[in-house]
Formats: sequence, C-alpha cells, structure tokens
Amino acid sequence: MSFCVFIPATFLRVPLTSILTIFGILFTTLIFPPLSLITPSGPHPVGVVDTFIPLPSSASYSNQSHVNVRVLYPTTSDATSRFSPPPYLMGPEICDKFMEFGAPPFLKKFGFLLNYWLLVKPYIYEGAPLASLPSQLPVVVHSHGLGGTASLYSAQGTDLASNGYVVLLVEHSDGSAPLTTNESGEIIHHYKEIYDLRDDPERGVQWDTPDYVRGRREQLLIRVEEVVATSEWVKSAFTFTSKAPLPTPLLPLRGKLDISNGVHLVGHSFGGATVLSAGGRHGSGLFRSVVAHDPAVDWMTDDTRYNLLKSTKYEGTGGYEGGKEKAKGSESKGLESLPLSMIYCSDWVKINFGHSSVTIPGVNNGSMGLPGKSEASYVEKSRHFEFSDNCLIVPNWLGKALTFTDGEPERVAREIAGRTLAFLDKN
Ligand SMILES: *[C@@H]1O[C@H](CO)[C@@H](O)[C@H](O)[C@H]1NC(C)=O
Ligand SMILES: *[C@@H]1O[C@H](CO)[C@@H](O)[C@H](O)[C@H]1NC(C)=O
Ligand SMILES: *[C@@H]1O[C@H](CO)[C@@H](O)[C@H](O)[C@H]1NC(C)=O
Repeated sequence: MSFCVFIPATFLRVPLTSILTIFGILFTTLIFPPLSLITPSGPHPVGVVDTFIPLPSSASYSNQSHVNVRVLYPTTSDATSRFSPPPYLMGPEICDKFMEFGAPPFLKKFGFLLNYWLLVKPYIYEGAPLASLPSQLPVVVHSHGLGGTASLYSAQGTDLASNGYVVLLVEHSDGSAPLTTNESGEIIHHYKEIYDLRDDPERGVQWDTPDYVRGRREQLLIRVEEVVATSEWVKSAFTFTSKAPLPTPLLPLRGKLDISNGVHLVGHSFGGATVLSAGGRHGSGLFRSVVAHDPAVDWMTDDTRYNLLKSTKYEGTGGYEGGKEKAKGSESKGLESLPLSMIYCSDWVKINFGHSSVTIPGVNNGSMGLPGKSEASYVEKSRHFEFSDNCLIVPNWLGKALTFTDGEPERVAREIAGRTLAFLDKN
C-alpha cells in the first residue's frame, strides 16, 4: 500500500497549486516589467461594487436566477487613501482558464505563467462612497467579448466612470467567459463543446461553420436577455421612490441617475453583437445610444442583422433561419432610433471582419443607426484584443510576438476610451 493513499487528494492539490502560484508570480515578475492599466482620464477616482441583479421570470433563455454585474462609479477624492482595490482576478483558477482559452496550443497548460495578473492593480476602490456631484449621472451597460470577463474591461470601464458615468460591466452566464460564478457561488464553465462544430475537415481548417455560428447566436440570446434585464433593473431600482434592495454604496445613487432617456450600451466583439441586438430589439426609451467596438455582426440575431445589413447582399454565415423573407418579416428597427457608434481596430478593417467594409460607410452615410447622430471609425495600428485590458497586462514583446498588439497598447486604449467618451457625452 502506498503512502499516498493516506493523503486526501484535496490536501495534495492545494499546496501544489499555491506553490505554483508563488512560483508563477516570482518567475513572471522577474522576467516581465511591472504592468499597469492606463490611468483614468477623468477627474474622479472610481469606486467598485460587485453584485447580482435578479433576472425577471420572463427571462427564458438563461438558466440563472441572477446576472453577475460589476458596478463602477465616481467616488470621493479621499477614497484612494481610505479604500483598497479589489484583486484584479478572483484567483489562480481563472489564470488557467484564460491561458486555456487564449494561448497557443503549446502554452495552454501553463496557466501559472499568468498568475502575475493577480498583481495587476486596477484604479478602482472597493466599497468607496459615491462622490457628491451636482448633476445626475448617465449610465453605461457594458457587454464583454468571447473569452472575456467584467475585470478584463477595467481600463475602458474605469475611464468612463472617472468622467462621471456609472458603468455596469455585465459578466455573462452564456459560457462565453473563461469561467464565472453564479449567485449561488457555483462555477459556470467555458462552453467548450461548441469548438467541435468549428472544425471543418473538408476545408482542413478551423473555420466558422454555419452550425458553429448558430451556436453563437443561441448564446447571444442569453447575453441580450442579461443586458436588457440589467438596463431595466437600472431604470426601476434607482427611481427616487424605489424600495428594491441595493448594495450599500449604491444607495445614494437613488434618484441621482440620468436615466429618463434610457441607458447607453457599450460592447466589444461578441459584446458588440450583443448590444447591437439588444438595441435593435428595444430601441430608444430603454436605451439611449449604442457603441459597438469591433462587433461580431455575424453573431447577431436574424432580425437585427437583417435590419443592419439589409442594404447589402450579406446575410451572414448560414443565412437567416427560415430564409430571407422570414428575417425581413421579423425585422427589428430599434437601431434606426438610436445614435450608433462603431469603432473598429485597423486589423479588422484590413481583413473586413465584423463586415466593416459595409458598416463603416453605412453608418457614416446615415443608412445605419439614427441618421445625423451616428458615426463609425477605426483606430490606426490597432488590434482586436486592445479593446480589453489584455495588451496592457501582457508584456509588450509578448503581445507583439502573439500579434495581439502592434506595440502601442496604451495609445490605442486611450484613443478608444477618448472616442467612446466623446460620443457618449454628445448623446
Ligand atoms: C440550461 O439548462 C438546460 C437544461 O438543463 C441545458 O440543456 C442547457 O444546456 C443549459 N444552458 C446553459 C447555457 O447552461
Ligand atoms: C446556479 O444557481 C442556480 C440557482 O439559481 C442553480 O440552480 C444552478 O444550477 C447553478 N449552477 C450553474 C452552473 O448554472
Ligand atoms: C450607404 O452605405 C451602404 C453600405 O455600405 C451602401 O449600400 C449604400 O448604397 C450607401 N448609401 C448611400 C446613399 O450612399
């Protein structure tokens, strides 16, 4: 009988994981320079509260009772000395999952190399009090991309909050995050089975087959439901007379939100498709404007994709369920009522991803989004992951080697934040 039989498996696993964590942090801080997010551009320090918002019983695609949301808001100037930033990520497991999701095959098992991400200090202060501001605060609901989490959009979210916005970063439960937890504390894993649909042996490559794209469109329905529920919750729970339970630091926001015209939506990639679809289905009233960063337009719902792209021959991979006539019949016109901003990276423009060769001229000539109030552009020398924190927290040499960045992630992050803020301020 071997000695190991007497040692419970969990006992073995815990010290090994923590040794690897410590080793990972030491190793990577030795070879990588210290990493930080961009300093927020606005005058206010930023407070943060994580919470779960109840989903209405009408939510039919999600299996969850709540949606996981990180709330960023302007706080008082002394908060930086009285409160601390939360950990950037919830623990080493998520580093493993990020690595599994994003790294080249030979690195997938080396999640501990990302453990230094646990040391990244976001410019946010946990539980800090609301700043006392003379005016009402506009609200942004943000949807992350495939393989992202709420934390991974700290730079963009914090920049908006430092300029006086209340930003709700939704962490989706559709399996698009590398890992998230639900309200009962259970882990929701990344939906890996979908990648089996992506293999197309006939073409001998990994490619977006119609079945794969349909799988993403099904996930998108859950995402839209979560974005809509979050926005509706904001509109009802923060009225002056509402009795809905709120996390303590958010209580003073009651009656202080500028929501009579709705909330702004911002989303990246899969999140861009999510906010365009939510905007298309609900339009003005619930929503006030839509900002889509590198939107994965192919993954939008049929009705909103048809509406957005109807001036073109493009139907999306696999076309419309039930054909073009059906999509035409169910066309949702909400986007025509909303100021729309699309911001692409130059890399996606070069390869016409997100159908940018059609959407950029379409938005700018008034045929997509609210005419006269909509705009589309791209950021010079930029790449897809630069809309998230990814390239700010990966050493530049590595980001360049992996072609995640062209080498100026701070310039690109500031450019994206600046354009997004300027558009929201106008609307
Ligand atoms: C929701 O639950 C159903 C039934 O258990 C399951 O088939 C489906 O995969 C679940 N969806 C998600 C997104 O977890
Ligand atoms: C999450 O929480 C609910 C309770 O609302 C539970 O029924 C569900 O199965 C949980 N777990 C996952 C992985 O979705
Ligand atoms: C506007 O752009 C769309 C999409 O690129 C194009 O199909 C359409 O012809 C343009 N309309 C005008 C009036 O230029």
